[in-house]
Amino acid sequence: MARVFVTGSSSGLGLMAGELLVEQGHRVVLHARNPARADETRRALPQAEAVVVGDLASVAGARGVADEANKLGRFDAIIHNAGVGYREARINTADGLPHVFAVNVLAPYVLTALIERPDRLVYLSSGMHRGANARLDDLTWTKRAWNGAQAYAESKFLDVLIAFAVARRWPDALSNALEPGWVATRMGGPSAPDDLDQAHRTQVWLAVSDEPEARVTGKYFRYKRQRAPDPHTDSIELQDRLIAECARLSGVALPD
Ligand SMILES: NC(=O)c1ccc[n+]([C@@H]2O[C@H](COP(=O)([O-])OP(=O)(O)OC[C@H]3O[C@@H](n4cnc5c(N)ncnc54)[C@H](OP(=O)(O)O)[C@@H]3O)[C@@H](O)[C@H]2O)c1
Repeated sequence: MARVFVTGSSSGLGLMAGELLVEQGHRVVLHARNPARADETRRALPQAEAVVVGDLASVAGARGVADEANKLGRFDAIIHNAGVGYREARINTADGLPHVFAVNVLAPYVLTALIERPDRLVYLSSGMHRGANARLDDLTWTKRAWNGAQAYAESKFLDVLIAFAVARRWPDALSNALEPGWVATRMGGPSAPDDLDQAHRTQVWLAVSDEPEARVTGKYFRYKRQRAPDPHTDSIELQDRLIAECARLSGVALPD
């Protein structure tokens, strides 16, 4: 039995992953953005051990989530699932950062850095990360005209970079990224073409399975199979640059 923390698990794929983990006999801690959403989350999955509350749109909020999670004790695995997008209008957070970047990239970075290191880390990317041509020199979108779909694709490219950077830095942990398919959650929209019933399974498998195929690190998956990510995600230079930028923007260093 494993103990797993799933971020952004008040609805969508995060809640589905929590339900599947409970069904498989694991202990699950869920996460919701505010007390009202937390109440709904507890009602949706009463078997969850706890629901951590906190908004990931600011560095202070992400720090608060990390503090609350740490108070509950160490997790065997963390699924970094919370996300927003795509096609979002430019919204600036309290820290003056684009909302998509803050929630999808800076928050998982801060949580990774501040929550006691688990054995496994799983990051939700998207097939849209391919060809994102991420601008590491403009993560905060001050040099470009805003493009919501591009900002989302870029954020999901950066999530793969985080997963791979962590895999390199923490050889004792397993750190992987995946794409769940385009599915009909609130984010995916009602006409999404892929199978919703497959969309939460790979992250759960990577978090808890003892199958050798799941016990790897620095890999990218779709439907429990390794897939080639965008080749630029292999760049150690890009990985290190992103970690340095996230450290600068958040004021939180990633431990060695
Ligand atoms: N659906 C797809 O087709 C698809 C495809 C590729 C990748 N993905 C990825 O899969 C992950 C889950 O997406 P989904 O489809 O399940 O989306 P969703 O149904 O919109 O769920 C997103 C979750 O993240 C939470 N969240 C968003 N902003 C937050 C914040 N500031 N603080 C705390 N929690 C926050 C949401 O909470 P609230 O409910 O309170 O808003 C919700 O629980 C995302 O990382 C997404 O990028 C999805």
